[in-house]
Amino acid sequence: MNAKAAPAALRREAAALREQLQSHNLRYYVHDDPQISDAEYDSLLRRLQEIEAAHPELKTPDSPTQRVGAAPLAAFEPVRHLQPMLSLGNAFSLEELRQFDRRVRERLGADAAPCYACEPKFDGLAVNLCYRDGVLVSGATRGDGETGEDITANLRTLNAIPLRLQGSAPPHLIEVRGEVYMPLRGFAELNARAEREGEKVFVNPRNAAAGSLRQLDPRVTAARPLRFCAYGVGHLAGWPEPDSQARLLEQLRHWGLPISPLLEVAFDIDAAIAYFQRLEAQRPNLDYAIDGAVFKVDRIDWQHRLGSAARAPRWAIACKFAAEEAATKLEGVEFQVGRTGTLTPVARLQPVFVGGVTVANATLHNADEIERLGVRLGDTVVVRRAGDVIPQVVRAVPELRPEGARQIRFPDACPACASPLERAPGTVAVRCTGGLVCPAQRRESIRHFASREAMDIEGLGEKLIEQLVARDLVRTVVDLYRLAREQLLSLERMAEKSADNLLAAIDASRQTTLARFLYALGIREVGQATARILAGEFGSLDALMAADAERLQELRDIGPVAAGHVHAFFDNPDNRAVIAALRGAGITWPEAERATGELPLAGQSWVLTGTLESLTREQARERLEALGASVAGSVSRQTRVVVAGSRAGSKLTKARALGVEVIDEAELLRRLQYNAGL
Ligand code: IVH
Repeated sequence: MNAKAAPAALRREAAALREQLQSHNLRYYVHDDPQISDAEYDSLLRRLQEIEAAHPELKTPDSPTQRVGAAPLAAFEPVRHLQPMLSLGNAFSLEELRQFDRRVRERLGADAAPCYACEPKFDGLAVNLCYRDGVLVSGATRGDGETGEDITANLRTLNAIPLRLQGSAPPHLIEVRGEVYMPLRGFAELNARAEREGEKVFVNPRNAAAGSLRQLDPRVTAARPLRFCAYGVGHLAGWPEPDSQARLLEQLRHWGLPISPLLEVAFDIDAAIAYFQRLEAQRPNLDYAIDGAVFKVDRIDWQHRLGSAARAPRWAIACKFAAEEAATKLEGVEFQVGRTGTLTPVARLQPVFVGGVTVANATLHNADEIERLGVRLGDTVVVRRAGDVIPQVVRAVPELRPEGARQIRFPDACPACASPLERAPGTVAVRCTGGLVCPAQRRESIRHFASREAMDIEGLGEKLIEQLVARDLVRTVVDLYRLAREQLLSLERMAEKSADNLLAAIDASRQTTLARFLYALGIREVGQATARILAGEFGSLDALMAADAERLQELRDIGPVAAGHVHAFFDNPDNRAVIAALRGAGITWPEAERATGELPLAGQSWVLTGTLESLTREQARERLEALGASVAGSVSRQTRVVVAGSRAGSKLTKARALGVEVIDEAELLRRLQYNAGL
C-alpha cells in the first residue's frame, strides 16, 4: 500500500468540501441566494487546495480548485459547433415586433396563438458550452456561426459555469448557448484599476468581456469579473427535448446553469410588448448592460416548424431599446466610394461619446437622406448609435445653425477617379461609372477579396493595397497572383522578408474553399452565409455557374434578390473572364464528389455501430444515403457522425477519442425525420 495515500478521513473531507463549494456556487449564481460571505467561500477553497496539494491523487478534474489549471496557450484552436450558432433578426420598434408576430402566425396557420418566452438581450459575448455525459468538455466563441475559437480554459475559470452538470442522469451530449458578460460594477472597478496603473481601459463592458475571454493566459481571465447566463441549446442528444422554451431553460437551471431571473412567458404579443416596456423601465437598475429584449416562440415544435433563414431563426427576434443619442457639430462631409462604386456621404463630426464609444464619423447614407435631414455644414446634429450599428446622423438642429452654414453638395464626378456618376432609376444609390478605372473601387474590391473571411491573404493590408493600386501593379484581383518579388521590393517600407511572406501568403490563398471563393468574388447580396449555402447546394462552381435563375430561386434560404444578383453576376462575360483567369492562376478548392443537388446530408460521412432497435443497419444506411450521406465502415477524422446502438464497441471509443459527434438511435430517427422534411 502506498505510504502517502490519503487517509479516508481526508478523502471524505475533500469530497465534502467540493460538494459544499459547488453548492455555494449554485446558490450564488443560479439561485441568487448566497449563504456565506466571499471570505468564507475563499477559506473553504483554500482548505481544499491544501488537501489536494498534499495529496494530488485526491484532485478531480471538476474540482473547484481546477478552474485555473491550464498553462497559457499559443493560439486558440478552431472548433466546429455541432449545430450552427445563429444570430437574431432585429425589431427596432414595437410596430416591427408586431410585424414579427404577424409573420409567425401567418406561417403557423390561422388558428395558431403563439406564446413568447421573453428575456433580456444581454450585451456580451455568445458562447457555446459542450457537456458530454454531464462534464464540460469544451467552450467556444460563436465565430462565424459554424466554427468558433476554443476558449475552454478561459471559460472554465468562470464560477458561474458548472464544470459538471447537477443531477444523476445528464444528457449524453448538450451544447448550452449563452452569454458571457461583465457586470457594470466589476467593469467600473476593472477600469479604475487599469487607469491607476496606466493600463488600457475598455470602452464598454462588452469589449471588456470580449477582451477578457481572448486572453491566452487563463489566469488573466480568472481575475476578471465575468458572468454567464444560459439562453438556449444547440445540439442535444440522450435527453428528450422539452416541449417549450421556458421548460428547456428550467431544465438548464436544474442542471446548475444560471438562466435569467427576468425570464417570463408572454401569453400573446401584447403581453410581450408590456414585458418590453417593463424591462426598459428596469434597465437603469440592472447591474449589467442589456440592449433590448429577445422574444422566442415558446413551443419548441413550432420553432422547428418555423425553421430558420440563412442567418437567423424565424421563431425569435431581438427588439432593441431606442438607441442612445448625443448632439455634436458636423464639421465636414466626405464621399467614400465602395467596392461596387456606390458613393456614401460620411459625416466628419466633433468627437462625441455616445452609446458607449467615441464617435467621430457617421454615415449620412445617400443624397436623399441629406435632403431629408436638411442638414448643413457646421450644423449641430444629433447622432445615434446602438450596439454594433454604424453611427447615424438622425437630425439637424436648425435653431442652432451658425450664420453662413453651407449646403452639402454631392460631387458632380467621382472623387476618386473623376468618372461621371450615375443614379440608376428607381434607386437612391449614386454610383461611379469608372469600374476598374476607379482606384477606390479597385482598392475596395481587392480589400474584400483578400480579407480574412474571403481569400485570407495575410499581410495584404489597406496601406499596401493603396500602393499597389496607385502604382498600377494591381488592377484586378487576378494581378495579385502575378506579382513579382522585385515589384514588391520597389514599394515603400517593404523589406525582403515581408515581400517573401506576402508572396507566400498569396500562394497559400490558392488553396481555398468554394464558399470562400464565392464570397471573395463580391457578388452583391452574397455574404458569407449565402456563399456557404451556394457552395453546399451546388458542390461545384461549374454547376453553380450553369444554374438558371429559376433553379437559384428554388433554393431554400436564398431570397429572390440575391438569386437575381448571383445569376446576373455569372451571366456577365467580364466576370466569367476574371473567374477563368483566377482559376488559371491556380486557385483551387476541393470539389464535392458529385453535385448532389439539395440533399441535406450531402458530403457527410456517417458510421453505424452497435445494434439498432427499430430498424436494421441496412435500413438505416439506405435512409441516410437517400439523404445524401455516405455510410462508411470505419471511423476517421473525416467522419461527421457516429450512430451508436446498444453494445457499441471500438468504433465508439475511437469516435470519442477523435472528438467525432456520437448520437444514439433516438437522435438518428429524429434527424432522419427532420432532414427528410417530415
Ligand atoms: S438567442 C437562435 N437570447 O444576441 C437564437 N441571444 O443577435 C440565438 N443575445 O449571438 C440567440 N441575449 O450573443 C439569444 N436572451 C438572448 C440573448 C441573445 C443576447 C445575443 C447573442 C447572439 C446575439 C444575436
